Amino acid sequence: MKMCCSYKTIPVSPVDAELAKAIMARSFHPSVIGSEAWEGYVFSGLEIRIKESTDVYGAVLWPSAMVLCHFLETNRDKYNLTDKNVIELGAGTGLVTIVSSLLGAKVTSTDLPDVMGNLRYNVMRNTKDRCKYIPLVTELTWGQEVEQRFPRATHCFDYILAADVVYAHPYLDELMDTFDYLCQENTQILWAMRFRLDPENSFVDRFRQRFHLEELYDLRTSLSIKLYRAWRKDKTSKDQGEAAA
Ligand SMILES: C[S@@+](CC[C@H](N)C(=O)[O-])C[C@H]1O[C@@H](n2cnc3c(N)ncnc32)[C@H](O)[C@@H]1O
Repeated sequence: MKMCCSYKTIPVSPVDAELAKAIMARSFHPSVIGSEAWEGYVFSGLEIRIKESTDVYGAVLWPSAMVLCHFLETNRDKYNLTDKNVIELGAGTGLVTIVSSLLGAKVTSTDLPDVMGNLRYNVMRNTKDRCKYIPLVTELTWGQEVEQRFPRATHCFDYILAADVVYAHPYLDELMDTFDYLCQENTQILWAMRFRLDPENSFVDRFRQRFHLEELYDLRTSLSIKLYRAWRKDKTSKDQGEAAA
């Protein structure tokens, strides 16, 4: 039987390809294999060692995390994390939490209970004696007891960070509600979105109904990732620019 393939190849722009190359160059493999397997990354001039495990999604490091870390490190003038209150959703192996902490933020790193052990281990080993603030690693299942765990009166975040949290899981509504609850008037969301299949990708359109959305990186042709900044619809873009400085 004759198969007909009519896939259209979208050319990768030089800017996109160069940026993707610079981001992926942040990772390296250990030259000597020791008793423990780890993957290496360089951010803020420091070597970061991440232990992965293949049994759960959150124990693998996804390229979106590198995209977000690269952005944070190279845009420190505009997005200065020093002394800022930051929460990461779906932190996984912890790279974004680690890099934000190295950049001076007070970070609350969250994920599902199953992921806590590996996340805590990676965060501790890479931030101990290197950061101004010790990151807090704690459970947060989207949509569950968020108001009790993070009362607005005492928990006000400057930034919500999220890398690759939208994919084919059944908690997209809960994730949206969690963003909505945690994002206060002056909060900025920095979210790296990996595009996969249409049903999940439509999350971006639904997100846009609740938040202003600005595209910071378009790496869709190289890595299938876009990096967004978002803020509440009742806040203007100008105000947010000033808040970020
Ligand atoms: C694809 S991984 C991305 C991990 C990490 N941010 C990265 O980019 O390497 C998705 C993360 O979302 C977390 N997650 C999935 N469903 C969740 C839920 N209902 N509540 C909280 N976290 C969840 C997973 O445990 C996992 O760490």
